Amino acid sequence: MKYSRIVGLGHHVPETVISNQYLSNIMDTTDEWIIERTGIKQRRWIDPAKDTVANMSAKASRMALERAGLKEQDIDFIVFATITPDYFFPGSGVLLQRELGLDGRVGALDLRNACSGFIYALSVADQFIKTGMYKTILVVGAEIQSTALDITTRGRNTAVIFGDGAGAAVLQATEKPGILSTHLHSDGNFAEELYVKDPGSSRPHAERQPEQILDTSSFKVVMNGSQVFKHAVVRFTEVINEALEANNMTKDDISLLVPHQANLRISQFIQQKMGLSDDKVYNNIMHYGNTTAASIPIAMSEAWAEGKMKKDDIICLAAFGSGFTWASALIKWQ
Ligand code: COA
Repeated sequence: MKYSRIVGLGHHVPETVISNQYLSNIMDTTDEWIIERTGIKQRRWIDPAKDTVANMSAKASRMALERAGLKEQDIDFIVFATITPDYFFPGSGVLLQRELGLDGRVGALDLRNACSGFIYALSVADQFIKTGMYKTILVVGAEIQSTALDITTRGRNTAVIFGDGAGAAVLQATEKPGILSTHLHSDGNFAEELYVKDPGSSRPHAERQPEQILDTSSFKVVMNGSQVFKHAVVRFTEVINEALEANNMTKDDISLLVPHQANLRISQFIQQKMGLSDDKVYNNIMHYGNTTAASIPIAMSEAWAEGKMKKDDIICLAAFGSGFTWASALIKWQ
């Protein structure tokens, strides 16, 4: 039986730091409100002249490959999680393949599972490795949210939350399980609680022609913050417990929980509900905001660099987001 393990992690965030103070100068908000409700102190926004989802993910991927002692040519397949691809189509996976200079033998799969995207991508890559189809897979989460945000008072409930960035993990086949399990869930009844409607195909022909679109607000993120919060705290805990039960473990076995960086209050709520000490939960949302599919690999890359993921540690990943979708992964670090 083959298993998969993470052999390298990397990340890249844009240079431009956007403080809460900056946001309070362009919309009706305050540093205190943002910190109290979300824990976010700053986020990174891209420079449109130089940053793209594809090139940020290439930088994150090269860091992950270097840390793994591998080269671009060692990659057999790419799984790319994003809801903000460079183009409406094709997906960003092929653009990353091009950036990395890989030849046509490498397939690239795009996933659109929002904040749960990285764990979904990890799960897909894990299955490909377990079946023996591929040996080395690049798993990426990358997003540019900033250029789509409504940075006026009208959009303040989302504008203060989201940030840009990219994270990557290299997965390789191994004899002993690294990824112990993944659990994936969805409930489309809540699709419109956190979504962007356009450019969607749900409109009739006349309304889908760009020159006919008079009200462009449907291109902005719509979020029912309290509904998201309410469901997130329940689903996060459920899916973490599901992972522990599936592996005959308890919360005491967790060495480090790396939750999707949705909101510091959500992470703290889960930590309290699970009864985990501060050193067992990794948060970096204070610095980057919520970077959607990129948040978990960025957090893992930083946690690894800080020496917080050691051999035989049990690492738990968990996410919740648009869809609604939610997911967990339990990993024995090798
Ligand atoms: N600055 C100042 N005031 C703001 C604000 C901002 N950035 N955003 C919203 N407000 C205002 C609202 O307009 C509202 O004002 P009103 O009472 O005069 O109508 C008030 O704050 C309370 O709004 P509400 O939406 O009820 O706030 P909240 O306590 O639910 O906090 C969130 C809002 C978004 C921080 C919170 O709902 C949340 O974190 N939800 C989860 C979001 C999330 O994690 N999303 C990502 C999922 S992957």
